[in-house]
Amino acid sequence: MSEPASTVRVRVMYVVGTRPELIRSAHILAELRARPDVDLAVVHTGQHYDHAMSGGFLEELELPAPTAFLGCGGRPRAEQVAAVVQGTAEAIRARRPACVCVFGDTNTALAAALAATSTDTPVVHIEAGARSHDMSMPEEVNRRLIDHMGDLLLAVSRRCVANLRRESVPGTVVDTGDPLFDVFERNFAVGGFPAVSTQSGRRTCLMTLHRQALVDDWAQLSEVLTGVSEFADSAGVEVVFPVHPRTRATLRAHAGMQLGNIAPCEPLRYQDLLATLGRCSLVITDSGGLQKEAFWASKPCVTVRTVTEWGETVDAGANVLAQGKGVAAAAARMIDMPARHHLDDGADPYHGAGSSRRVAEAIIERYAH
Ligand code: UD1
Repeated sequence: MSEPASTVRVRVMYVVGTRPELIRSAHILAELRARPDVDLAVVHTGQHYDHAMSGGFLEELELPAPTAFLGCGGRPRAEQVAAVVQGTAEAIRARRPACVCVFGDTNTALAAALAATSTDTPVVHIEAGARSHDMSMPEEVNRRLIDHMGDLLLAVSRRCVANLRRESVPGTVVDTGDPLFDVFERNFAVGGFPAVSTQSGRRTCLMTLHRQALVDDWAQLSEVLTGVSEFADSAGVEVVFPVHPRTRATLRAHAGMQLGNIAPCEPLRYQDLLATLGRCSLVITDSGGLQKEAFWASKPCVTVRTVTEWGETVDAGANVLAQGKGVAAAAARMIDMPARHHLDDGADPYHGAGSSRRVAEAIIERYAH
């Protein structure tokens, strides 16, 4: 009996390596996996390697086991980029995909895009066009370089499209919306959470801090922590603080600091993070994704940075930028802001549900034969 003819029309390589890439890619990978015409190879670079930062999400979000694991974590940036370029280029030569997909602005994404470019393989950049205009952040440098290498640029908002047009990028731009929303929506039970901490009966604030420029600088980090601790005392708020490994290293080096009402904990599983978000009255963060998740969950947000790529949330009045001593004052102002349901009027600037499917369709349409 003869073998049935293969239905595969496109070989896709998708590279991940960090917590945000795993979370944001969950539904895109499910969409691609469900298509019989797609042969999907997932390369995990190992940039994040703690179970709480990587393996745990593979299980929780039912992500496919990686086709290749490069083990490039825990090195200085230049070495990490070099190792991922080499490992990804080998994976590309072995599988000969029609395109290599990368997400966002990490070292993993930059290095995989460089590997694709140097093996004449088209780069698909998901979450293209985001700009903070702060070139001191490695993420801003990474995302700009990837956008200029990209063949297919999948933007998450009209503002991102405009940024790409302004820079005259050579790739094809498609406004798919933000695939993170699909993952958020699936995992966030809207309205199902009590508005106070289940343990203490007090209001809570969810805080995450991990950006290099902030957490590697003890003077800056301790100023924020002292301010937030004082705010928490005077507002009677409990601060839940899942600690990123980078931040953990700095806190360990200054173990004597009194954190008062700030309760540090291990990084949370995605559903536990969203449950904490659902219960809280305020978010304090320097994370990109959490700014948008707070916006979708109608929680006020204080972003501990001078700039943000997600200006849409600031324009909507849901998010304010603050630094140093200003964080505590902004928190005190924002926590009593009336809850605003930004999605009720259908005006999500990130285009709501279905973005993951639109990403998968854009890839197939461009590269399938
Ligand atoms: C990276 C991304 C950032 C993203 C963040 C999410 C870049 C340039 N930045 O920053 O955009 O928001 O991931 O977390 O890629 N470490 C561990 N265990 C781990 C992971 C990291 O101990 O599982 C340590 C590393 O050894 C390193 C530090 O934490 O010393 C920082 O990790 P790294 O992957 O370099 O960057 P992130 O700060 O996580």
